[in-house]
Amino acid sequence: PKAQTIKIRDAVASRGKRVKVSGWVHRLRVQGKDMMFAVLRDGSGYIQCVLTGQLCKTFDAITLTLESTITVYGVINQLPEGKTAPDGHELVVDYWTMVGKAPGGDDAFTNKISQDADPSYLLDQRHLVLRGETASAVMKARSQVIKAFRAHFEHKGYTEVTPPCMVQTQVEGGSTLFAFDYYGQQAYLTQSSQLYLETCLPALGDVFCLAESYRAEKSHTRRHLSEYTHLEAELAFITFDDLLQGLEDLICDTLDRVLADEPTRQLIEQLNPGFQRPQRPFMRMTYADAITYLKENEIKKEDGTYYQFGEDIPEAPERVMTDKIGKPIFLTRFPAEIKAFYMQKCSDDRRVTESVDVLMPGVGEIVGGSMRMDNMEELIEAYKNAGIDSAPYYWYTEQRKYGTTPHGGFGLGVERFLAWLLNRYTVRECSLYPRFTGRCTP
Ligand code: 4AD
Ligand code: MG
Repeated sequence: PKAQTIKIRDAVASRGKRVKVSGWVHRLRVQGKDMMFAVLRDGSGYIQCVLTGQLCKTFDAITLTLESTITVYGVINQLPEGKTAPDGHELVVDYWTMVGKAPGGDDAFTNKISQDADPSYLLDQRHLVLRGETASAVMKARSQVIKAFRAHFEHKGYTEVTPPCMVQTQVEGGSTLFAFDYYGQQAYLTQSSQLYLETCLPALGDVFCLAESYRAEKSHTRRHLSEYTHLEAELAFITFDDLLQGLEDLICDTLDRVLADEPTRQLIEQLNPGFQRPQRPFMRMTYADAITYLKENEIKKEDGTYYQFGEDIPEAPERVMTDKIGKPIFLTRFPAEIKAFYMQKCSDDRRVTESVDVLMPGVGEIVGGSMRMDNMEELIEAYKNAGIDSAPYYWYTEQRKYGTTPHGGFGLGVERFLAWLLNRYTVRECSLYPRFTGRCTP
């Protein structure tokens, strides 16, 4: 009988029919002379294929190797209770062809690569590691999370824009800029699309973008990448409180959407067993209270002294604090001198800003956001204080000239969000091909 071409995800629905499936040999088990089991993988799922008798003569362990590409034909059967196979189904093969033979032997290591192997080796082999069950599950979950972010903003009526990656202005400080030659002029890879999003408000209303951001981070940590996916949003006519509310909505609604999809919920359960969505409202803590918290909990600097008001709280103490508290934190009102030039100062205390970092257990900061200075004179003063030449920022400054408004926004590091949601040790596992100090391959 004719076979219907299917993807493995549709195997259950095709039960009893003769089908044609193409994929990669994920696992191989030879049972005696005339029985073989091959788990086939096509990116949409896994299915166990059983070969018997004459088919095994050609389909032996030498001819057929792990990671070879094959096309199989046969009928999908439901397995009786107690027999294990992905989805409880197996494909009883009646004919098969080789599409691309893999070397097998020692080179057939894809799924044998131990998660405990040297991390640098794993990254060199990333193109093969990605075929593994864990890495591919992380990438599948990533795809669903990105869809859910978009669905959230779509639902709220935001417009998605695509700002440029090649720019001539810095956003988050000169020390992490990647500079390059742009037809004889100095240009940079963007650190954040925020300034461009701000210019969209009068044209498009609330906007968001999902774009790559670049940071020449010298620090070698488990949460810093040189290139990362940045989800940024900007809103007009809001208060600082609205901004926090919007952030809470984004995180909670995205999680609801992701978990409502059963296959995605299963992926998350596989990667992060027992994951619980956080309770609303999120805890709110000012920077000043965090300094007190560190003191009271004896979380000290390397030199044994305590953090003082006005000092940056680095990654390590931030993580210790967040892990101790064990739930999401909105850390607010950072001192102006440790934050970017564009942040609006609090009207009741000009030393601090209307700023927020969202901290998650296990990762620490996953979001940075703030209200923006909406007064032109104040912004011009802020450029001076930060030692920034205001000339290349004329287009940003003019936002305050042609109809200014209170506005604010935030940026969420997608890999950091995923590291938290999927319980990954490092953001590197959440990037397809991570870039960080010393690595730009594959
Ligand atoms: O806190 P950041 O630097 O804030 C901004 O860039 C703002 N202009 C965003 C905005 O308001 N539109 O970066 C925002 C987030 C961080 O909280 C973090 O999650 C992520 O981007 N991030 C990084 N992720 C991975 N590797 C890096 N080197 C990152 N730097 C920032
Ligand atoms: Mg930040």
